[in-house]
Amino acid sequence: MVAKKKVKETEEQAVVVKETKTKKAAAVSKDKTEKTSAVSKDKTEKTSAVPPAETVGKTDIQESTEDESEEEIKPEPKLEDLPGIGPVTVEKLREAKFEDVMSVAVASAGVLSDVAGITETTANKAISAARDLLDLGFATAEEVCNKRKTITKVTTGSEDFDKLLGGGIESQGLTEFFGEFGSGKSQIAMQLAVNVQLPIDKGGLDGSCVYIDTENTFRPERIKQMAEAAGMDVDKVMKKIMVARAFTSDHQMLLAEKISDLIKQKKVPIKLIIVDSMMGLFRSEYAGRGTLATRQQKLNRHIHTLQKLADLHNVAVYLTNQVMSRPDVFFGNPTAAIGGHILHHACQFRVYLRKGKAGKRIARLIDSPYLPEGEAIFKVTENGIVDA
Ligand code: GTP
Ligand code: MG
Repeated sequence: MVAKKKVKETEEQAVVVKETKTKKAAAVSKDKTEKTSAVSKDKTEKTSAVPPAETVGKTDIQESTEDESEEEIKPEPKLEDLPGIGPVTVEKLREAKFEDVMSVAVASAGVLSDVAGITETTANKAISAARDLLDLGFATAEEVCNKRKTITKVTTGSEDFDKLLGGGIESQGLTEFFGEFGSGKSQIAMQLAVNVQLPIDKGGLDGSCVYIDTENTFRPERIKQMAEAAGMDVDKVMKKIMVARAFTSDHQMLLAEKISDLIKQKKVPIKLIIVDSMMGLFRSEYAGRGTLATRQQKLNRHIHTLQKLADLHNVAVYLTNQVMSRPDVFFGNPTAAIGGHILHHACQFRVYLRKGKAGKRIARLIDSPYLPEGEAIFKVTENGIVDA
């Protein structure tokens, strides 16, 4: 029984790996459709029973002065245009926040069949039709390169640490930091929430941050200390962090889904999304082996939401994760991050944090598509993250 489940999970993982690869190839053409997609989403916008992040948040959102240049907008394909998707299914999809063809194009068949009550075969047909409609296929290396040129980075506050990460936490992708309790994951989260607001020449993105706090460890006092230490206007900094406390994994997923509404409202240019911690609620709610498949399916959907946000809006996503001990590992590091391969494959960067002597922290870059593995040492101080 247990062995069967394992096989099932591995299959799911394989799907996700494939999906992730397809998504990467598709990333370029997605950019083209970004504007049109936003327009149709506006039309289909729905109200939700759960309060949006901004009402849960402790701060107001300030009007952005950024103005996007108007481009000619092509009519966008509708959900109804997809094969096997009738009005009833469309309604179900919309309820599940699959509001446009793009969201179907980047979904996995399992998730789609689940939420829309259609077979996986129909789901697969709809997905490939959606991909065809949006012209999500191969892109030239040059196009990929151009898309990558728009990647931006947020400084960690430590030069050594930034060097390890190739400049900081990258936009257009997910970055996972994992490590034991007290290793600095939440401290880095709060530091990033401050640093993203710095001007670009100081390592920031001149943007604001959405902070999903699942463990009630967000501390505004720490934000104040860090902002003061950086010589920033504390009140302004506090206003540009939208905090939402997530109470269940479903709530966490819903908050993430709400972020696109926040971005659409364009009150503030959101440049960083933090989920601290990514797995905590999932882990406690789906504790037994028998619930693993459900957990991974939900997690899969949550990851898709975050990836889509990163991709479509050029946002950096910082996720924290705990480690579980692996008593079966005798050599090397006997700890592993939670979440299984679904999460690991979805993250462009993975960093393992551990405590060192005299308040130092060691960060190890584990997975990166283009940077060498390596380590950096930094310190957590009252002023925030600094060089050791
Ligand atoms: P969990 O969420 O429990 O898994 O841990 P975490 O990795 O999120 O740890 P967190 O980032 O909360 O780090 C907490 C540690 O940061 C504390 O144990 C302190 O060592 C350090 N720290 C937090 N605030 C301060 C501070 O104001 N001054 C100094 N010097 N250290 C601090
Ligand atoms: Mg923490």
